[in-house]
Amino acid sequence: MKRWEISSADVDGEGCAVVAQALKDGQLVAFPTETVYGLGANALDETAVRRIFAAKRRPVDNPLIVHVASKAQLVQITPADFRLSPTQEKLIDAFWPGPFTLILPAGQNVATSVLAGLHTVAVRMPNHPVALALIEQAGVPIAAPSANLSGRPSPTTASAVVDDLGDRVDHVVDNGSTQIGVESTVLLVEAERAVILRPGGVTQEMISKVIDIPVVFDVHVADIDRTPLAPGMKYRHYAPDASVHVWWGDDADVYAAMRERLASDDGEPLSKDMKAAIIAPRDFLHRFDFGLPSSALAPLDSADYPMALANSLYALLRQFDFADVTDILIYGVNPAHGLGTAVMNRLQKASEGRVYRA
Ligand code: TXA
Ligand code: MG
Repeated sequence: MKRWEISSADVDGEGCAVVAQALKDGQLVAFPTETVYGLGANALDETAVRRIFAAKRRPVDNPLIVHVASKAQLVQITPADFRLSPTQEKLIDAFWPGPFTLILPAGQNVATSVLAGLHTVAVRMPNHPVALALIEQAGVPIAAPSANLSGRPSPTTASAVVDDLGDRVDHVVDNGSTQIGVESTVLLVEAERAVILRPGGVTQEMISKVIDIPVVFDVHVADIDRTPLAPGMKYRHYAPDASVHVWWGDDADVYAAMRERLASDDGEPLSKDMKAAIIAPRDFLHRFDFGLPSSALAPLDSADYPMALANSLYALLRQFDFADVTDILIYGVNPAHGLGTAVMNRLQKASEGRVYRA
């Protein structure tokens, strides 16, 4: 594995050219996007795409997102006679490049494994200068799931990619921490409504402002026992080794619930082996005392806590795993608004459903 540091100002340099050529030639390249790091391969090359599934140990029934650098590139992955509908057009104009993935009919050149048996392809144009330069210079659309081992928290740094995948990838492009921290919104446009298959960086409110049809969530987003339309959403996911518990509500109630959890483990006296950590707004951690060392506390910006939590969540889960923390207690956010829906969706999965209204 070769690691490259490519800054956003360096996209015309040799590093970018070498890595883009490697992508075109069928190699595996981990690269930054504005959401999380992706594990990329030429989306038109079946052998290359199969290596993504092998490297991640990803279930083969979970299709990949294909990344493009321009709207014109859609002809490479959709049927020859395909035209965007006015609604799809509006969405693309509003949210590309950005954390927004649209489900479109798949053309015949897309590698079979990308689609995992579906007739549609998930497409997004990432808002990251290095990602865009790599795709453009490779000249082919790039299939890329998040660059983690399947089931683990998505990587928001190049080091997290290396920890999970190491020599299973040919090149890792390091561009520091990603900006958003949760994955893109996945949207399916139907005749009478648009369905959010995976909540993400572009919120329901933002989408509703742009199109005239109702924007709804796929049933599984509200009810985790229902079968999701996006195959990947059914797996245990985003999960650290530690057990995760999440509460949201009033400060005093969240505090009481966290104290109770710290004092007991399923009703039993606190186990000596329990090593707890807390992720919460900075104000909250100032106000309430948990008797934990400061290394066990992750105070996040209180002013826009949902955003701060989205940014830092995956990196903190990995960091606490590394420190052998056994229990991660997280101050959640209201899932009904904005970025809160995406963050709480990830927390549902990371905690295997242990999310409570305090
Ligand atoms: O932000 C992101 O979207 C990141 C970066 C790297 O772009 N990518 C990412 O990919 O999160 P991945 O593979 O981890 O998640 C793709 C999601 C899965 O839930 C998958 O089931 C769904 O998109 N998906 C892919 N193709 C689909 C299709 N044709 N129909 C429905 N869902 C699809
Ligand atoms: Mg993923």
